[in-house]
Amino acid sequence: MKHLLKMLDLSKQDIMEILNLGDQLKYEQKHGIRHRHLYGKTLAMIFQKASTRTRVSFETGMYQLGGHALFLSASELQIGRGEPVQDTARVLSRYCDGIMIRTFAQKEVEDLAEYGSIPIINGLTDFAHPCQVLADLMTIREHKGNLSGLKMCYIGDGNNMANSLIVGGLKVDMTVCAATPKDYQPDAQVLDFAEKCGGLFRLTDDCMEAAKDADVIITDVWASMGQEGEREKRAKAFQGFQVNKQLLSVANKECMVLHCLPAHREEEITAEVFEAHADEIFDEAENRLHAQKAVLVKLLGGAQ
Ligand code: CP
Ligand code: NVA
Repeated sequence: MKHLLKMLDLSKQDIMEILNLGDQLKYEQKHGIRHRHLYGKTLAMIFQKASTRTRVSFETGMYQLGGHALFLSASELQIGRGEPVQDTARVLSRYCDGIMIRTFAQKEVEDLAEYGSIPIINGLTDFAHPCQVLADLMTIREHKGNLSGLKMCYIGDGNNMANSLIVGGLKVDMTVCAATPKDYQPDAQVLDFAEKCGGLFRLTDDCMEAAKDADVIITDVWASMGQEGEREKRAKAFQGFQVNKQLLSVANKECMVLHCLPAHREEEITAEVFEAHADEIFDEAENRLHAQKAVLVKLLGGAQ
Protein backbone atom coordinates (compact mmCIF):
# COMPACT_ATOMS: atom_id res chain seq x y z
CA MET A 1 0.00 0.00 0.00
CA LYS A 2 1.68 3.23 -1.21
CA HIS A 3 -1.24 5.67 -1.04
CA LEU A 4 -4.76 5.93 0.35
CA LEU A 5 -6.77 7.19 -2.62
CA LYS A 6 -10.01 5.16 -2.40
CA MET A 7 -11.35 2.00 -0.74
CA LEU A 8 -11.39 0.20 -4.09
CA ASP A 9 -7.56 0.17 -3.99
CA LEU A 10 -7.30 -1.56 -0.59
CA SER A 11 -7.23 -5.29 0.05
CA LYS A 12 -9.05 -6.83 3.00
CA GLN A 13 -5.61 -7.36 4.55
CA ASP A 14 -4.69 -3.65 4.17
CA ILE A 15 -7.94 -2.69 5.90
CA MET A 16 -7.52 -5.16 8.75
CA GLU A 17 -3.90 -4.08 9.31
CA ILE A 18 -4.99 -0.45 9.58
CA LEU A 19 -7.82 -1.33 11.99
CA ASN A 20 -5.54 -3.46 14.16
CA LEU A 21 -2.85 -0.78 14.31
CA GLY A 22 -5.54 1.85 14.95
CA ASP A 23 -6.83 -0.16 17.92
CA GLN A 24 -3.27 -0.54 19.24
CA LEU A 25 -2.44 3.16 18.87
CA LYS A 26 -5.73 4.10 20.55
CA TYR A 27 -5.02 1.80 23.48
CA GLU A 28 -1.47 3.12 23.82
CA GLN A 29 -2.57 6.75 23.58
CA LYS A 30 -5.10 6.18 26.37
CA HIS A 31 -2.45 4.49 28.54
CA GLY A 32 0.13 7.25 28.12
CA ILE A 33 2.40 5.25 25.81
CA ARG A 34 3.86 7.72 23.33
CA HIS A 35 5.50 6.99 19.97
CA ARG A 36 7.80 9.01 17.77
CA HIS A 37 7.23 6.92 14.65
CA LEU A 38 7.14 10.00 12.43
CA TYR A 39 9.86 12.05 14.11
CA GLY A 40 11.13 14.76 11.77
CA LYS A 41 8.49 14.02 9.13
CA THR A 42 6.03 16.49 7.65
CA LEU A 43 2.57 16.09 6.16
CA ALA A 44 1.27 18.75 3.74
CA MET A 45 -2.51 19.10 4.14
CA ILE A 46 -4.22 20.79 1.16
CA PHE A 47 -7.82 21.88 1.70
CA GLN A 48 -10.12 23.00 -1.14
CA LYS A 49 -13.16 22.50 1.13
CA ALA A 50 -13.99 23.21 4.77
CA SER A 51 -13.15 20.74 7.54
CA THR A 52 -13.25 20.32 11.30
CA ARG A 53 -12.54 16.63 11.96
CA THR A 54 -10.15 15.91 9.11
CA ARG A 55 -7.96 18.90 9.73
CA VAL A 56 -7.79 18.60 13.50
CA SER A 57 -7.37 14.81 13.60
CA PHE A 58 -4.58 14.76 11.01
CA GLU A 59 -2.74 17.68 12.59
CA THR A 60 -3.06 16.20 16.08
CA GLY A 61 -2.15 12.73 14.82
CA MET A 62 1.06 13.96 13.18
CA TYR A 63 2.01 15.83 16.34
CA GLN A 64 1.35 12.80 18.55
CA LEU A 65 3.57 10.70 16.29
CA GLY A 66 6.44 13.17 16.58
CA GLY A 67 5.95 14.78 13.17
CA HIS A 68 4.52 18.03 11.90
CA ALA A 69 1.53 18.93 9.71
CA LEU A 70 1.21 21.98 7.47
CA PHE A 71 -2.29 23.36 6.91
CA LEU A 72 -2.42 24.65 3.34
CA SER A 73 -5.60 26.33 2.21
CA ALA A 74 -5.87 25.86 -1.55
CA SER A 75 -7.00 29.45 -1.98
CA GLU A 76 -3.67 30.62 -0.56
CA LEU A 77 -1.52 28.20 -2.54
CA GLN A 78 -0.46 28.80 -6.13
CA ILE A 79 -2.75 25.86 -6.97
CA GLY A 80 -5.60 28.31 -6.29
CA ARG A 81 -4.15 30.58 -9.01
CA GLY A 82 -3.94 27.78 -11.55
CA GLU A 83 -0.58 26.09 -10.90
CA PRO A 84 -1.08 22.51 -12.12
CA VAL A 85 -1.53 19.81 -9.52
CA GLN A 86 1.19 17.81 -11.29
CA ASP A 87 3.76 20.55 -10.51
CA THR A 88 2.49 21.01 -6.97
CA ALA A 89 2.93 17.27 -6.42
CA ARG A 90 6.54 17.35 -7.60
CA VAL A 91 7.42 20.41 -5.52
CA LEU A 92 5.82 19.17 -2.29
CA SER A 93 7.55 15.81 -2.81
CA ARG A 94 10.89 17.64 -2.46
CA TYR A 95 9.97 19.09 0.95
CA CYS A 96 7.47 16.83 2.67
CA ASP A 97 6.98 13.14 3.49
CA GLY A 98 3.29 12.88 2.62
CA ILE A 99 0.33 14.86 1.27
CA MET A 100 -3.24 14.77 2.53
CA ILE A 101 -5.68 16.49 0.20
CA ARG A 102 -9.38 17.38 0.40
CA THR A 103 -10.75 18.47 -2.94
CA PHE A 104 -13.54 18.02 -5.49
CA ALA A 105 -12.32 15.79 -8.33
CA GLN A 106 -10.93 12.33 -7.57
CA LYS A 107 -8.69 12.79 -10.61
CA GLU A 108 -6.76 15.52 -8.82
CA VAL A 109 -5.87 13.08 -6.04
CA GLU A 110 -4.93 10.37 -8.52
CA ASP A 111 -2.76 12.92 -10.41
CA LEU A 112 -0.94 13.88 -7.22
CA ALA A 113 -0.13 10.20 -6.70
CA GLU A 114 1.04 9.81 -10.29
CA TYR A 115 3.31 12.86 -10.38
CA GLY A 116 4.49 13.03 -6.78
CA SER A 117 6.96 10.66 -5.18
CA ILE A 118 5.51 10.61 -1.64
CA PRO A 119 2.36 8.95 -0.20
CA ILE A 120 -0.94 10.69 -0.99
CA ILE A 121 -3.94 10.46 1.33
CA ASN A 122 -7.46 11.31 0.19
CA GLY A 123 -9.04 13.48 2.87
CA LEU A 124 -12.35 13.53 0.90
CA THR A 125 -13.29 14.04 -2.73
CA ASP A 126 -16.71 14.07 -4.37
CA PHE A 127 -16.11 10.37 -5.08
CA ALA A 128 -14.58 8.98 -1.90
CA HIS A 129 -13.93 9.45 1.82
CA PRO A 130 -11.70 6.49 2.73
CA CYS A 131 -10.33 7.96 6.00
CA GLN A 132 -13.86 8.28 7.34
CA VAL A 133 -14.81 4.75 6.35
CA LEU A 134 -11.72 3.25 8.01
CA ALA A 135 -12.79 5.04 11.21
CA ASP A 136 -16.35 3.79 10.72
CA LEU A 137 -15.22 0.17 10.35
CA MET A 138 -12.98 0.56 13.40
CA THR A 139 -15.97 1.86 15.40
CA ILE A 140 -18.30 -0.92 14.28
CA ARG A 141 -15.72 -3.57 15.21
CA GLU A 142 -15.09 -1.88 18.56
CA HIS A 143 -18.81 -1.99 19.41
CA LYS A 144 -19.75 -5.31 17.83
CA GLY A 145 -16.54 -7.32 18.27
CA ASN A 146 -16.36 -8.29 14.60
CA LEU A 147 -17.32 -7.15 11.09
CA SER A 148 -17.78 -10.25 8.97
CA GLY A 149 -21.44 -11.25 8.57
CA LEU A 150 -22.92 -8.01 9.94
CA LYS A 151 -25.50 -6.11 7.90
CA MET A 152 -24.64 -2.49 7.05
CA CYS A 153 -27.48 -0.25 5.89
CA TYR A 154 -26.80 3.08 4.18
CA ILE A 155 -29.63 5.61 3.78
CA GLY A 156 -29.41 8.71 1.59
CA ASP A 157 -27.24 10.23 -1.08
CA GLY A 158 -25.13 7.92 -3.28
CA ASN A 159 -22.15 10.18 -2.63
CA ASN A 160 -18.55 9.94 -1.38
CA MET A 161 -19.66 8.27 1.87
CA ALA A 162 -21.96 5.77 0.16
CA ASN A 163 -19.28 4.88 -2.38
CA SER A 164 -16.66 4.26 0.28
CA LEU A 165 -18.94 2.50 2.78
CA ILE A 166 -20.26 0.07 0.19
CA VAL A 167 -16.77 -0.94 -0.94
CA GLY A 168 -15.30 -0.95 2.58
CA GLY A 169 -18.16 -2.99 4.04
CA LEU A 170 -18.07 -5.56 1.25
CA LYS A 171 -14.28 -5.90 1.47
CA VAL A 172 -14.53 -6.93 5.12
CA ASP A 173 -17.33 -9.41 4.33
CA MET A 174 -20.28 -7.42 5.59
CA THR A 175 -23.67 -7.52 3.86
CA VAL A 176 -24.46 -4.05 2.52
CA CYS A 177 -27.86 -2.66 1.59
CA ALA A 178 -28.07 0.94 0.37
CA ALA A 179 -31.29 2.92 -0.07
CA THR A 180 -30.89 5.97 -2.30
CA PRO A 181 -33.33 7.94 -4.45
CA LYS A 182 -33.24 6.69 -8.04
CA ASP A 183 -31.51 9.84 -9.34
CA TYR A 184 -28.85 9.79 -6.62
CA GLN A 185 -27.38 6.32 -6.83
CA PRO A 186 -23.76 5.45 -5.98
CA ASP A 187 -21.03 5.67 -8.62
CA ALA A 188 -21.13 3.13 -11.47
CA GLN A 189 -17.59 1.92 -10.65
CA VAL A 190 -18.74 1.12 -7.10
CA LEU A 191 -21.92 -0.63 -8.25
CA ASP A 192 -19.86 -2.66 -10.68
CA PHE A 193 -17.56 -3.81 -7.85
CA ALA A 194 -20.51 -4.46 -5.52
CA GLU A 195 -22.39 -6.58 -8.02
CA LYS A 196 -19.41 -8.92 -8.22
CA CYS A 197 -19.52 -9.57 -4.47
CA GLY A 198 -21.59 -12.74 -4.61
CA GLY A 199 -24.98 -11.39 -3.54
CA LEU A 200 -23.70 -9.50 -0.48
CA PHE A 201 -24.95 -6.19 -1.91
CA ARG A 202 -28.36 -4.76 -2.59
CA LEU A 203 -29.42 -1.32 -3.86
CA THR A 204 -33.00 -0.14 -3.35
CA ASP A 205 -35.07 3.03 -2.96
CA ASP A 206 -37.00 1.47 -0.07
CA CYS A 207 -35.47 2.58 3.25
CA MET A 208 -37.43 0.02 5.29
CA GLU A 209 -36.13 -2.81 3.16
CA ALA A 210 -32.58 -1.54 3.57
CA ALA A 211 -32.89 -1.18 7.35
CA LYS A 212 -34.51 -4.57 7.97
CA ASP A 213 -32.35 -6.62 10.38
CA ALA A 214 -29.49 -4.11 10.06
CA ASP A 215 -26.66 -4.17 12.61
CA VAL A 216 -25.54 -0.66 11.72
CA ILE A 217 -27.37 2.15 9.94
CA ILE A 218 -25.32 4.96 8.43
CA THR A 219 -26.40 8.16 6.75
CA ASP A 220 -24.93 11.41 5.43
CA VAL A 221 -26.13 14.89 4.48
CA TRP A 222 -28.54 15.40 1.59
CA ALA A 223 -26.39 18.18 0.09
CA SER A 224 -22.63 17.75 0.31
CA MET A 225 -19.95 20.42 0.16
CA GLY A 226 -20.05 22.04 -3.26
CA GLN A 227 -23.77 21.22 -3.72
CA GLU A 228 -25.12 24.12 -1.68
CA GLY A 229 -26.93 25.47 -4.76
CA GLU A 230 -28.94 22.24 -5.00
CA ARG A 231 -30.18 22.30 -1.41
CA GLU A 232 -33.85 22.90 -2.23
CA LYS A 233 -34.01 20.42 -5.06
CA ARG A 234 -32.27 17.81 -2.94
CA ALA A 235 -34.49 18.46 0.09
CA LYS A 236 -37.45 17.43 -2.09
CA ALA A 237 -35.73 14.43 -3.68
CA PHE A 238 -34.59 13.05 -0.30
CA GLN A 239 -37.93 13.29 1.54
CA GLY A 240 -38.32 10.02 3.45
CA PHE A 241 -34.61 9.18 3.30
CA GLN A 242 -34.27 9.83 7.00
CA VAL A 243 -32.89 7.80 9.89
CA ASN A 244 -35.68 7.93 12.46
CA LYS A 245 -37.35 5.80 15.13
CA GLN A 246 -39.64 4.09 12.65
CA LEU A 247 -36.68 2.99 10.53
CA LEU A 248 -34.85 1.66 13.59
CA SER A 249 -37.89 -0.38 14.59
CA VAL A 250 -37.20 -2.85 11.75
CA ALA A 251 -33.45 -3.08 12.42
CA ASN A 252 -31.77 -5.47 14.85
CA LYS A 253 -32.36 -4.67 18.51
CA GLU A 254 -28.79 -3.55 19.18
CA CYS A 255 -28.45 -1.68 15.88
CA MET A 256 -25.80 1.07 15.86
CA VAL A 257 -26.27 4.41 14.10
CA LEU A 258 -23.29 6.25 12.62
CA HIS A 259 -22.92 9.64 10.93
CA CYS A 260 -19.65 11.04 9.59
CA LEU A 261 -20.74 14.57 10.65
CA PRO A 262 -21.57 17.36 10.25
CA ALA A 263 -25.22 16.30 10.69
CA HIS A 264 -28.40 18.15 9.75
CA ARG A 265 -30.96 17.24 12.37
CA GLU A 266 -34.49 16.59 11.08
CA GLU A 267 -33.14 16.21 7.55
CA GLU A 268 -31.18 12.95 7.12
CA ILE A 269 -31.48 12.05 10.85
CA THR A 270 -33.88 13.03 13.62
CA ALA A 271 -32.48 14.78 16.70
CA GLU A 272 -33.99 11.98 18.79
CA VAL A 273 -32.08 9.20 17.02
CA PHE A 274 -28.92 11.29 16.84
CA GLU A 275 -28.89 11.86 20.61
CA ALA A 276 -29.81 8.25 21.40
CA HIS A 277 -26.74 7.14 19.41
CA ALA A 278 -24.43 10.05 20.26
CA ASP A 279 -21.92 7.78 22.02
CA GLU A 280 -21.44 5.74 18.87
CA ILE A 281 -21.33 8.81 16.62
CA PHE A 282 -18.69 10.57 18.71
CA ASP A 283 -16.64 7.37 19.10
CA GLU A 284 -16.70 7.36 15.31
CA ALA A 285 -15.45 10.96 15.21
CA GLU A 286 -12.72 10.13 17.74
CA ASN A 287 -11.62 7.10 15.76
CA ARG A 288 -10.71 9.35 12.83
CA LEU A 289 -7.63 10.23 14.90
CA HIS A 290 -6.62 6.65 15.70
CA ALA A 291 -7.37 5.12 12.28
CA GLN A 292 -5.52 7.93 10.52
CA LYS A 293 -2.52 7.60 12.81
CA ALA A 294 -2.39 3.98 11.66
CA VAL A 295 -2.57 5.11 8.02
CA LEU A 296 0.20 7.67 8.61
CA VAL A 297 2.49 5.13 10.29
CA LYS A 298 1.86 2.61 7.51
CA LEU A 299 2.40 5.08 4.66
CA LEU A 300 4.99 7.50 5.99
CA GLY A 301 7.21 4.71 7.06
CA GLY A 302 7.74 4.88 10.80
CA ALA A 303 8.81 1.60 12.40
CA GLN A 304 6.04 0.04 14.48
N1 CP B 1 -16.44 13.81 8.66
C1 CP B 1 -15.57 14.70 8.23
O1 CP B 1 -14.77 14.47 7.31
O2 CP B 1 -15.61 15.88 8.89
P1 CP B 1 -14.94 17.26 8.47
O3 CP B 1 -15.64 17.71 7.20
O4 CP B 1 -15.18 18.17 9.62
O5 CP B 1 -13.48 17.03 8.21
N1 NVA C 1 -20.82 13.96 1.96
C1 NVA C 1 -20.30 14.99 2.82
C2 NVA C 1 -19.33 14.41 3.79
C3 NVA C 1 -18.75 15.40 4.77
C4 NVA C 1 -17.72 14.79 5.68
C5 NVA C 1 -19.64 16.06 1.98
O1 NVA C 1 -18.96 15.72 1.01
O2 NVA C 1 -19.83 17.24 2.27
